[in-house]
Amino acid sequence: MRRKIIAGNWKMNKTANDAASLAQELAVQVRMSPDDRIDTIIAPAFPFLAQCARNINGVPGLFLAAQNCHTHTEGAYTGEVSVPMIASTGATHVIIGHSERRTLFGETDKMLHDKLHTVLHGGLTPIFCVGETLQERKAHEQATVIDRQMESTICHLSNEQLKRTIIAYEPVWAIGTGLTATPDQAQEMHALIRNIIANQYGHAVAEMISIVYGGSCNPSNAAGLFECSDIDGGLIGGASMKANDFMAIRNALIGQVHRI
Ligand code: PGA
Repeated sequence: MRRKIIAGNWKMNKTANDAASLAQELAVQVRMSPDDRIDTIIAPAFPFLAQCARNINGVPGLFLAAQNCHTHTEGAYTGEVSVPMIASTGATHVIIGHSERRTLFGETDKMLHDKLHTVLHGGLTPIFCVGETLQERKAHEQATVIDRQMESTICHLSNEQLKRTIIAYEPVWAIGTGLTATPDQAQEMHALIRNIIANQYGHAVAEMISIVYGGSCNPSNAAGLFECSDIDGGLIGGASMKANDFMAIRNALIGQVHRI
C-alpha cells in the first residue's frame, strides 16, 4: 500500500513561540496516536524550522517540511534559502510549486522543474503541487493545465526520483476559499494525475505514488475525500494551524487506512 500523508502548510503565519508550541503540541498528540502507515508533516516558515525540528524530534512518523527553496545550493542570493540549509535544520521535505508561489511570486514550470531536481539531489522529499485556477476550470481546461504542469516537471524525473516524490493536487479555486472540491471532482483529477504517471512510468510505479488533495480540507469534509481510491491524504492550510483540527483530519485518514 502506498504511503498516506497528512501535511500542514502554515504559510506566513505564527511567530517563534506560537510555532514552537504548535509543533510541541502536535508532537505530543502524534506520539499518543501512532500509525506506521501515515506520515504526518508540518511546514512552518523558514525561521522556525530548527526549533520545530527540536520539538518534534524522535516522534515516529512526524516530519518537517520547508515551504519553498532556492534552485542553487549556495552563493550570492540575498534573502534566499537553499536545500542544504533546509536539510541542516532537520527538515526532510520541501513543498514546491504551491499555487501562491506560482501566482504571487511568478514561479514558472521551468523554475519548478529546477527546484524539484535541487530538492531530490539534496536528498529531501518534494511535495510537488499542481492545480488549475477557477478561470481554467470554468473553461474546462483543468485536464490540459494539469497535463502541462506534469509534463514540464514531474515527467522529467527518473523512476527512482519519482518514487521519492509526493504530488499534491490543489485546485487554486479551493485554496483558502472554503470551496472544497467535491470528492468526485478531486478523485477525477487524482486519477488523471495517476494516469499521466502510468502512461510514462507504467502502472506499477503509478500505484506507488502518493497523491494528496489540498484546498479547504477540514475536519468535516476530510473523510469524504480520503475515501476516494486515488486520494492518499491531504495538504492542509488553514485547518493545520489548530492542533485539534489538524489531528481530526489526521484521524479521518487513519480511519480510512483501517478500512482498507
Ligand atoms: P487551505 O490551504 O487548506 O487553507 O485551503 C491549502 C494549501 O494552500 O495548501
